[in-house]
Amino acid sequence: MPGHFIKIGDLGPDAGALLRRAAEMKACRYHSDLLRGKVILLIFEKASTRTRLSFEVGVRRLGGQCIFMTPTESQLGRAEPIEDTARVISRYNDGVIVRTFSENVLRLLVEYGNVPVINALTDESHPCQALSDVFTMYERRPDLPSLKMAWVGDGNNMANSLIEAARIFGFALTLACPEGYEPNPALLREAQEAGAKVRLTRDPANAAQGAHFVYTDVWSSMGHEAERQTREKVFRGYCVDAALMSLAAPGACFMHCLPAHKGEEVSAEVFESPASIVFDQAENRLHMQMAIMERVFTEAQS
Ligand code: CP
Ligand code: NVA
Repeated sequence: MPGHFIKIGDLGPDAGALLRRAAEMKACRYHSDLLRGKVILLIFEKASTRTRLSFEVGVRRLGGQCIFMTPTESQLGRAEPIEDTARVISRYNDGVIVRTFSENVLRLLVEYGNVPVINALTDESHPCQALSDVFTMYERRPDLPSLKMAWVGDGNNMANSLIEAARIFGFALTLACPEGYEPNPALLREAQEAGAKVRLTRDPANAAQGAHFVYTDVWSSMGHEAERQTREKVFRGYCVDAALMSLAAPGACFMHCLPAHKGEEVSAEVFESPASIVFDQAENRLHMQMAIMERVFTEAQS
């Protein structure tokens, strides 16, 4: 990882080591002083519960401190250029964790700043969530290349990052998405050309067949609220309910990054069922992000 964590593809060949490190940190409720004297800035241009909390707790467990900033209370909301903001941040802070709309914001922070940047979600990707999710799968079934995941719903930021995760970790991923709501076609094509077991279908039943993990996300992501009515019609057949789960492999798990809209992309029955591992996923954000930060910030110091 070159001092930043922007996408899963940044991980390189030792990606598996990060899963093992997260497991060690989880097992001992890891604390350290790696970040003693360091101040990490969180810039969040979209709402967050899990990502903000898990990063803030994780920074504290690594001995550092955080500042949380949003556009409404900073000059970002008054259109101060990212190029200038990046150079200011670099004079005060030791790292920046960013949730934003465009990936271009991350690119500018990397280009104009000189502190490590971690991607905490964009319209295009959510790599910290996807990596935590791989860790959650790995805890149950360490033989990742033998596993099948079904994605049901919008080809959104989560779907894109899971495609990258499938490519790196070798599990099979079938995405069932309605026409016009597919994941990034270039990402999908590149993954397929690199030999990843990733394919696209329109049919949730086809994706769920024999899957060990069935994953879904909201029909309208942050930033798409205005399309809500249209999307409710388009996605009506894309609900993970008990009938869909019955097609999956015996003992299959239900996954969701949260927040969930029960009765839309998932039935309340499946969400609350023993198959649901959504709160383990939420917890694992903390452990995986501590492992990511340890690697990113250690590389930045060396
Ligand atoms: N899953 C996730 O990123 O949740 P938040 O939006 O609450 O951070
Ligand atoms: N796809 C969702 C994920 C939220 C964690 C969104 O972008 O709103």
